[in-house]
Amino acid sequence: MTHMAPSAHIQPSVDSTSVFKSDLFRGKVLFCTGGGSGICRGMTAAMMKHGADAVIVGRKLDRLSQTAKELSEATGRACIPVQADVRQPQALREAAAKAIETFGRIDFVICGAAGNFLAPISGVSENAFRTVIEIDTIGSYNTIKATLPHVRASRGSYIHVSATLHYRATPYQAHVSAAKAGVDALSAVLAVEEGPHGVRSNVIAPGPIDGTEGMDRLRPKDNRSSGLSIPAGRLGDVNDVANATIFLFSDAAAFITGQVLPVDGGAEHLRTQF
Ligand code: HXC
Repeated sequence: MTHMAPSAHIQPSVDSTSVFKSDLFRGKVLFCTGGGSGICRGMTAAMMKHGADAVIVGRKLDRLSQTAKELSEATGRACIPVQADVRQPQALREAAAKAIETFGRIDFVICGAAGNFLAPISGVSENAFRTVIEIDTIGSYNTIKATLPHVRASRGSYIHVSATLHYRATPYQAHVSAAKAGVDALSAVLAVEEGPHGVRSNVIAPGPIDGTEGMDRLRPKDNRSSGLSIPAGRLGDVNDVANATIFLFSDAAAFITGQVLPVDGGAEHLRTQF
């Protein structure tokens, strides 16, 4: 079934500066894995625009450094790039220590580092399957372990970047589906265990977000901007995820924990594989 979207019957995404107070996160510190590019870069930019300083963590130092420089220039906030592979617990502990040494606190954590490619179960190697689980699921666990004492101290909050593709069976995505289902479960248990310590944990599940590496890898180029099977009538963009991030980290979401928030323009309700 193809859903024909009327022209722009849901508004284009807005830059969050037009909706939220610009000093919302003044004095707070964000720790974000995968923050060098894509959706997590946009989430970090939005947090900095609202007053937070940031530590961005990833494997590629060149890209991280460039992003940190650009975000600092654009927002006037501090952004520290730290090279670390989320599969390495010690590297993450050192990244968290760097955040404390630089800023003295960690209030918010985005577990965003992820790997993805299209491959059938019959074709994906054991190492390839394990690699995605290690980056997405175990990498999130490693990030939680490295940051939790600091997030407890600040009575802070986690956002895990997941997906919607594991709600139903998505061909060629067994590795990512298994990994993201694990991420959702991890976040829910974290919320339940840490609630009494004042720590919240939620998941943002982006749907089809335009202009990201994930979409570039998963969506055929000639169909990129159609938005035909999305009730909102358009693809998402990074601002849509950034706005959800600001809300979930803000005190407006103080009683929201252990939840999954799809940011998909309603696409999951309409998804079909026929
Ligand atoms: C089949 C592949 C493959 C591919 C890698 N492998 N790419 N197998 N098809 N396209 C296999 C390799 O052959 C190897 O197995 C194993 O995976 C590990 O690959 P390496 O390159 O050695 O590992 P590494 O350098 O750690 O990088 C792996 C990776 C990277 C992180 C998965 O290839 C990658 O995909 N990076 C992109 C990151 C990305 O797109 N992030 C956005 C995610 S978006 P063998 O057996 O040969 O040793 C997202 C949301 C999805 O997740 C939802 C969107 C709608």
